[in-house]
Amino acid sequence: MIVAIDGPAASGKGTLARRIATHYGLPHLDTGLLYRAVAARCLALGGLDDVGASEAAARTLDLSTIDAEALRSAAMGEAASVVAARPGVRAALLDLQHRFAAQERGAVLDGRDIGTVICPRADVKLFVTASPEVRAQRRFRELGARGAAVTFDDVLADIRKRDERDSQRSAAPLVMADDAVALDTSNLGIEEAFAAALAIVMARTAPGG
Ligand code: CDP
Ligand code: CDP
Repeated sequence: MIVAIDGPAASGKGTLARRIATHYGLPHLDTGLLYRAVAARCLALGGLDDVGASEAAARTLDLSTIDAEALRSAAMGEAASVVAARPGVRAALLDLQHRFAAQERGAVLDGRDIGTVICPRADVKLFVTASPEVRAQRRFRELGARGAAVTFDDVLADIRKRDERDSQRSAAPLVMADDAVALDTSNLGIEEAFAAALAIVMARTAPGG
C-alpha cells in the first residue's frame, strides 16, 4: 500500500504521515527533508545561487546521513523552497523517492508532489490543508518551544511566502491531485485529524473502495 500525503507547510501532513505509517507498519519518508538537506549542503558551500552546485548536492544526497533535527529551522524551510523550484534538483531526487516507494510492504511519503509526480498511482492520496493563520500558529508554537526568537507575524509572512513560491513554480507545483481526498485540519486536533485520515485510508483501500 502506498499512501501519498501532500499539503502546505504546517498543515499537519508530517504528523499524519508518521501516525499512518506506524498504524500500518509501513516505512515513512518526509520528502521535505531531502530538499532541506540539499539547501543545507549549498549553504555550507557558500550559498543558494549556484544552480549546478544544488543539482550536484541533490545527486549525491545520502538518505542515511540526513540529520532531521539540524534541518528544522524556518530559515532552512525557506532555503529548501528556493532549491526545490529547480527542475534539475527535483529530477536528481526522483530515483531515491521512487526506490523508497517501491519497497515490498509499501510506504507512506509526505511532501508537495507525492500524489502528482512521485507516486501518481498511490493507493491513497491525501491533500492536507489548514488556514494560513492556523498553520502559522502551529509553527509559532513549535519554534517557541525550541527557544527561537520569532514573532507570529514573521512566521505567518514566511508561511505565505513559501505557499506562494511552492504553488506558483513551474516544476512540480503544490497542487492537489485530481484523485486526492482533501482534509482540512484547521479545526481538528491531532487525534481528530488522525481519525479522519484513517477513515479516508480505510475507505480508499476497502474492497471496491
Ligand atoms: O514541514 P514543512 O511543510 O514546513 O516543510 P517541508 O515539507 O520540510 O518542505 C520544505 C520545502 O521543500 C517546501 O516549502 C517545498 O518547497 C519543498 N518540497 C518540495 O518541493 N517537494 C516535496 N515533495 C517536499 C518539499
Ligand atoms: O508536516 P507539516 O509541516 O505539514 O506539519 P506537522 O509538522 O505535522 O505539524 C506542524 C505542527 O502542528 C506540529 O507541532 C503538530 O504537532 C501541530 N499539529 C496540530 O497542532 N494539529 C494538527 N491537526 C496537526 C498538527
